[in-house]
Amino acid sequence: MPFSGQIAAISSHRSLSPAGLACYGANPAGERPQCPTPSKLLNSRRSVKPIEMTGPGPDARELEKLLTIASRVPDHGKLAPWRFIVFEGEARDAAGEVIAKQFAVEHPEATAEQMAFERNRLARAPLVIAVVSRAAPHVKIPEWEQQLSAGAAAMALVVGAHAMGFAASWITEWYAYDRAVLDGLGLDAHERIAGFVHIGRPRKPPEERDRPKLSDIVSRFSASR
Ligand SMILES: Cc1cc2nc3c(=O)[nH]c(=O)nc-3n(C[C@H](O)[C@H](O)[C@H](O)COP(=O)(O)O)c2cc1C
Repeated sequence: MPFSGQIAAISSHRSLSPAGLACYGANPAGERPQCPTPSKLLNSRRSVKPIEMTGPGPDARELEKLLTIASRVPDHGKLAPWRFIVFEGEARDAAGEVIAKQFAVEHPEATAEQMAFERNRLARAPLVIAVVSRAAPHVKIPEWEQQLSAGAAAMALVVGAHAMGFAASWITEWYAYDRAVLDGLGLDAHERIAGFVHIGRPRKPPEERDRPKLSDIVSRFSASR
């Protein structure tokens, strides 16, 4: 069955078509269906679990494009209160060693299977980009706003990846909060991980999930108070 046919078949089970794929030449059957409108693209985004990703990941040009998109986010005071660490190829395994070593320190009873799982943490997707918050005290710009800007950078990576036909997942997991791991990955003492954004190709179209009802989360400020 051609790829688009598969998507159509699974769509009846509330699966989403990987919208960006259509435009980005990633359709394995070589088909080029119509590109989704920007609003359709945003409305079809879904995270894909790293274990459900496959390659190829972005090439060098695509990676640069993604990083450029991520560095265009709103940033009060133009502080660039974030930076990015790219994990690709064997570097993902080297980072996995850092994670596994600390896991063993904290869990001396860890089984070989658990250790293998930890070692593989950053190798599940072809590409992982760590968004590092560099938020620090500033005379004018609250640290909260600087942290929000790092979140925006992570989201820009996720949406940018989706628009370019890739799958993405913004995750943190335990090692994002472990100081020894952060030291091992080269973060300064005041730096924190906003997210490890995993990027690859979806093995299958992601299924839709329930979203909050707008009526539960939206209110209107009334003029008559
Ligand atoms: C800061 C942040 C950290 C997250 N960390 C994790 C995580 O460690 N593990 C996880 O399964 N999902 C994590 N998520 C949630 C996923 O990114 C994703 O939003 C969720 O799987 C729902 O999918 P959706 O993006 O398609 O709605 C995190 C989200 C945010 C904003």
